[in-house]
Amino acid sequence: MRRPFVAANWKMHKTVQETVAYARDFVPRVEAVTDVDIVIAPPFLALSALVEATANSRVRVAAQTVHAESHGAFTGEVSLGMLKGSGVTLVIIGHSERRHLFGETDAGVNAKTQATVDAGLTPIVCVGETLEERKSDRTFEVLDRQIRDGLSGLSPDQVAALVVAYEPVWAIGTGRNATPDQADEAHRHIRQQLVSQFGDRAAACRLIYGGSVTPGNVAELRARPQVDGALVGGASLDPASFAEIVAGSRPTAI
Ligand code: 13P
Repeated sequence: MRRPFVAANWKMHKTVQETVAYARDFVPRVEAVTDVDIVIAPPFLALSALVEATANSRVRVAAQTVHAESHGAFTGEVSLGMLKGSGVTLVIIGHSERRHLFGETDAGVNAKTQATVDAGLTPIVCVGETLEERKSDRTFEVLDRQIRDGLSGLSPDQVAALVVAYEPVWAIGTGRNATPDQADEAHRHIRQQLVSQFGDRAAACRLIYGGSVTPGNVAELRARPQVDGALVGGASLDPASFAEIVAGSRPTAI
């Protein structure tokens, strides 16, 4: 059985001080949860403070993006060595906001994913179609391209160890989540694509859903066999709400 995986993507929210206050509130709420991987991705500036504030817990810390090169003249960028040196163990790659607002391509996602794996960190690779693509019946075509090009060159074992987040762009920050049927269908398709590209071993990859996940809808999404967890934006900014989402993702909750 695949272990549930729930991650908070704070995007551009919270100062260092707010991050530490959040951790103080959140960590005790999930102390008893031993059967879910719990991850928080704050802005870069708060990474070190969050690593420190969660040091005696099972909560792990992710970056929201990274640069694929190890060092150099890349003003404003952050490397994997810097993240690793700060105790960060996961990286979100190819979030739709990075793709659509900052021009990230599948080739860029591929370079970052390979570099992240090579550095020994875990990538959380995001894929998902726009509303227009869904309406014109191109969802699977888009997902196939993002998976094929984004993960090309990885070994089956490397794919098995990473996390893929299915985040339909139309569901992000809109309050309109994909239905459990839509999420399950997309996840099933992604898993088939992974297996056809990398072999049976890749079926172990965890597929999580993102897009307007709340304490109210997480259980019905998680109840679908292909949905291994959630990537949560807005509803993760409040510690009580995110703790509820973690609780609703436990194997015993569904
Ligand atoms: P919301 O949960 O706010 O819709 O954001 C989803 C998301 O983009 C997480 O990465």
